Amino acid sequence: MKNIDPTLLNNFRSPAFPGSFFMSFEGIEGAGKSTQIVRIKEYLEDRNFNVIVLREPGGTSFGERLRQAILNSEKDLHPTTEAYLFCSARAQLLTEVVLQELNEPNTIIICDRFLDSTIAYQGVARGLGIESVLKMHTIFPLNLVPHKTFYIRIDLETSLERQRMRNLPKDYFESRDDSFHSKLIEGYDACAELFTDRIKVIDGSKSADEVYLKLKSEIDELIFN
Ligand code: TYD
Repeated sequence: MKNIDPTLLNNFRSPAFPGSFFMSFEGIEGAGKSTQIVRIKEYLEDRNFNVIVLREPGGTSFGERLRQAILNSEKDLHPTTEAYLFCSARAQLLTEVVLQELNEPNTIIICDRFLDSTIAYQGVARGLGIESVLKMHTIFPLNLVPHKTFYIRIDLETSLERQRMRNLPKDYFESRDDSFHSKLIEGYDACAELFTDRIKVIDGSKSADEVYLKLKSEIDELIFN
């Protein structure tokens, strides 16, 4: 991986609200994010946290409209267009929801995708470059990142096999070729190398129960230690 200007990496902060946490889940198609998010939400609610699950793009009415605009786009968008749209949805989600909700004690925000999706999808797979994406995140509120990110990692073969079994219609990104999906893995792996403190890589090739137990122990460590 080419060297990244460290000032771009050191610019990020996690919002400081005692007793409340912000986490994100990342991974390629078939990694099992959605299943795990549902289980982790239940687990944390049983521990008396107020848990709010958000998705990107989305989570605000503006963000949901942008989501439709991107994922249903009939034409191929320029990667710069894509990246700015995702950033706009993110800035709105952060100010309208994340920062407001974290103000309430005992709140946990779980975001299904966040910054690392833009790095992997637009930065690497769509070729914009990691530095370009990081530069777009230098101003508030885009310089805010989760306390922890769980990257559920699977390889291309596992992803393709799980997609075949699900047999669902494919959207704007899902319908791209295998090399696109390989680049996504490369992009996520680069994120994990760049943000070693924030990103925890979880082996997603294991059974759903094993992945859940691993996530649970990581989350316990974050919250209860
Ligand atoms: P979604 O249906 O939520 O995908 P998944 O269920 O796999 O999480 O659609 C979101 C799509 O948008 C997904 O293909 C990833 C893509 N995306 C980006 O390309 N860049 C981004 O910054 C974000 C947040 C998502």
